[in-house]
Amino acid sequence: MTIINLPTTDTAPVKASRRLSVAPMMDWTDRHCRVFHRHISQHTWLYTEMVTTGALVYGDVERHLRFNEEEHPVALQLGGSDPADLATSARLGQQWGYDEINLNCGCPSERVQKGAFGACLMAEPQLVADCVKAMRDAVSIDVTVKHRVGIDQTESYDFVRDFVGTVAEAGCKTFIVHARNAILKGLSPKENREVPPLKYEFAYQLKRDFPDFEIIINGGIKTEAEIDQHLQHLDGVMLGREAYHNPFVMAGFDQRYYGDARAPKSREDVLEAMIPYIQAQLAQHGERGLKLNSITRHMLGLMTGLPGARAFRQVLSDSKKLALGDPGLLREAATRLRIAA
Ligand SMILES: Cc1cc2nc3c(=O)[nH]c(=O)nc-3n(C[C@H](O)[C@H](O)[C@H](O)COP(=O)(O)O)c2cc1C
Repeated sequence: MTIINLPTTDTAPVKASRRLSVAPMMDWTDRHCRVFHRHISQHTWLYTEMVTTGALVYGDVERHLRFNEEEHPVALQLGGSDPADLATSARLGQQWGYDEINLNCGCPSERVQKGAFGACLMAEPQLVADCVKAMRDAVSIDVTVKHRVGIDQTESYDFVRDFVGTVAEAGCKTFIVHARNAILKGLSPKENREVPPLKYEFAYQLKRDFPDFEIIINGGIKTEAEIDQHLQHLDGVMLGREAYHNPFVMAGFDQRYYGDARAPKSREDVLEAMIPYIQAQLAQHGERGLKLNSITRHMLGLMTGLPGARAFRQVLSDSKKLALGDPGLLREAATRLRIAA
């Protein structure tokens, strides 16, 4: 595991780890979203959206891989099934400074299946092992795999145990387990995150069967009480939709899960911290069409649960105000929240 020494007010450095992480989410966890999340938690491990090997081998590498220094620790998630292309892409990821390369073996979308990667790769554990080996040979950072507990109608635990066992032979020691099956035909990706039942016990059993591996659980987890429960059995917890829709859930993570003595930032601190970032991004990329909304859209959930949260979202969703491109809109939204509360 990558160890990064982060500044703390304590004498002992905090070990950056995947104890808590935010899931890779297409169209959501882009670099702006990750900076925003980083202002809420300094230590939570962040993942990119999935980037396909095709996009890196044939496309605009800079567009897909550039990120901001303050995002560390940040992992690049790759989608692909060709060992040579994955090796090339992983190497690029390391060159661009990512802290981990993760292979997507959990996405059920039909588009992804046509490319023969994502969750359908769980039916081909030896191919996944070959992919992992090729990537590990190409980079020195960790190579990890994110997968489901089964595909289609497989009910038996043996399926995921054998998958993990085979992939581990290629040297992967970290498995992120989205604890439900992927149904490859008939369910949309959204339904595939809701309909198949959660099987947390399968992830716990993986940890018992492979105690030396880092096993991280994902799927339907929302509260610190739930996280605490999972951490009694496992090495880490990954949050997806809750981290996006209610990002301030992460505010206490640094103290609670990483032993960081610093007080968490307030919501207002987070807003203020984003303003110079937005100003710099608009100045840098504005002429290439970067809109204020591409950053602020990730921030709509910051006030979730507070009275006035709706007024906050309304200001930040007002297309006329957004078109002015003034990040001071964040302060206006916070003022409206206080008035409405
Ligand atoms: C909008 C959206 C996009 C997603 N994109 C990806 C992706 O690119 N790669 C991936 O492995 N999983 C993707 N997922 C699945 C999440 O990483 C996660 O496994 C899933 O949402 C379950 O976790 P949760 O219940 O905490 O949200 C996506 C989920 C959402 C909601």
